[in-house]
Amino acid sequence: MDILVCYASLSGNTREVARQVSAHCSARGHRVRLLDVEDTQAVAAAAQPHDRLLLGSWTDNAGRNPAEMKRFVAALHERAGRPPAETVAIFGTGETQWGLEYYCGAAHRLARHFGSPHPVLEIEQMPHGMADTHAIHRWTDSVLQPLGVPA
Ligand SMILES: Cc1cc2nc3c(=O)[nH]c(=O)nc-3n(C[C@H](O)[C@H](O)[C@H](O)COP(=O)(O)O)c2cc1C
Repeated sequence: MDILVCYASLSGNTREVARQVSAHCSARGHRVRLLDVEDTQAVAAAAQPHDRLLLGSWTDNAGRNPAEMKRFVAALHERAGRPPAETVAIFGTGETQWGLEYYCGAAHRLARHFGSPHPVLEIEQMPHGMADTHAIHRWTDSVLQPLGVPA
């Protein structure tokens, strides 16, 4: 598969999840590119068709997307319209201390916005330990499956 991973990260947590997702895609033999949404090439890259566009974001105030992710999404739509919903899968980091109703809210908003049929991966802050590693690997394997086929 041809996979693009794009992420928004303020302090590095989501970047680390994106790196692990990307590394797992590579380990499975897929062709993968990893870009920060603020990279000057990110919008042009995302505007190209991919088998999967894996988008990750940290969550800002009260479950919202950060400004850099909103800019990226707007620029992507302006340039290329909407990618097919089934090709888009979303991951995010957040903190439960902001309130469970807002936990990883940006990722859930993105999934609704793109109509992604895939599960949303939620990681609390910096991924650490085997549980997070397994969650990242399981999620990556599941979103790379054709829809309807269990990982
Ligand atoms: C101003 C601010 C508001 C935040 N609001 C939320 C929130 O509503 N929900 C949430 O889950 N996390 C919230 N967080 C926590 C971050 O999303 C979390 O620390 C995330 O892992 C940061 O990712 P990054 O290191 O990739 O920037 C907030 C953080 C900041 C700085």
